[in-house]
Amino acid sequence: MECRICNTTLKRFLDLGRQPIANNFLANGDLTNETFYHLEVFFCPECYTVQIGDCPAKEDIFNEEYAFFTSTSEYMKRHFKMLADEIKEKYLPNNGFIVEIGSNDGTFLSNFREHSHLGIEPSRNVYKCARERKISCWNNFFDEELTDEIIEYCGQADVVVTTNCFPHMIDRDSVLKGIKKLLKPKGVWINEEAYLNNILNMTSYDQFYNEHIFFSSVASFRKTMSMYGMSLYAIEQVPVHGGSIIFYTSCTDHMPVSHFGLDYFESIENLDYFERFQIFAEKVKQKRKDLLNKIFPLKGDVVGYGATAKSTTVLNYCKIGNNLISKIYDTTPIKQGKLSPGMHVSIVPYYKFERDKPKNVVLFAWNHMTEIMEKENGRDINWILPI
Ligand code: TYD
Repeated sequence: MECRICNTTLKRFLDLGRQPIANNFLANGDLTNETFYHLEVFFCPECYTVQIGDCPAKEDIFNEEYAFFTSTSEYMKRHFKMLADEIKEKYLPNNGFIVEIGSNDGTFLSNFREHSHLGIEPSRNVYKCARERKISCWNNFFDEELTDEIIEYCGQADVVVTTNCFPHMIDRDSVLKGIKKLLKPKGVWINEEAYLNNILNMTSYDQFYNEHIFFSSVASFRKTMSMYGMSLYAIEQVPVHGGSIIFYTSCTDHMPVSHFGLDYFESIENLDYFERFQIFAEKVKQKRKDLLNKIFPLKGDVVGYGATAKSTTVLNYCKIGNNLISKIYDTTPIKQGKLSPGMHVSIVPYYKFERDKPKNVVLFAWNHMTEIMEKENGRDINWILPI
């Protein structure tokens, strides 16, 4: 397989087997109609981008049934408010224009009601939610062609923001050309995503699923930006979603670049060393053994907390069904009463957690650990980490 960015032959380092669409929670009648794909993960030795191989069509993922709502986490709302405050202070003039690509239910843009703003969101259900909250948004996939329409109706942007969205967009070439065109000459693009280096360090293989097509490091992002005539000028690590990174990019060289900081990060990433990926793959196999060893002896007296997309990767890779985990509690209404993709574990509303008082709980939403531990503080629970 060839790199989607630079056409170099990719090196495969991980095979997570047959997987369903990660957020495709099923009503009982849908069980015979599931889409599966082969989840393999590759590294590009030329541009250093990590990417999955086979993946379902974007229209099968981002549609009327999209199950991810940003507003389900109070912690994420606070995080986005802080990012919004920084943007207002440093990058967005009072009469400025901000575009968020992948604006979901409008949680981030709700901080910009007093500014000219536009959200681009392909999933119709979450887009409608944002519209109900009076956020300006369009129900589209973002690409270079759409950029021309945005510019025609709204003009160029001072700031473009993508949070946990850029890795989802398979048409990376068109998206990057679009972002570059959309920005004013002194505009900036702020992109937050899970940081590859943390995934490798934490063996968080559950970050690999069909929505996350690309994974970036400082080395890969810097290389990709230079291929498109853009400049990565700064980065910031943030403790959300298991360790994320914010890439700050300008399309001209008007922002002073922190070369020393970027070089330092590249050196600790050490991505020239392919064995790093091979060691990671061995650790993933060990994680599977460890998890099964923890839950087998509990003979089905185990539940899950948070029906995350990540849990789909773990359940299907480890072949864990409702014989081992009886149910998963989740706060998202659209997931409740449904079955988990592939392994068909029941998803039940969170309020039942308080009533059932389960003892052994796999924390599938481990990326919200701080928030969840605060909420469940004082309960006698044997927490089990899935990774
Ligand atoms: P998310 O963080 O989006 O992970 P992924 O991208 O892997 O889907 O999903 C978190 C899920 O956990 C979401 O379905 C809501 C649920 N959740 C709870 O049930 N309780 C909580 O306290 C929190 C924070 C999340």
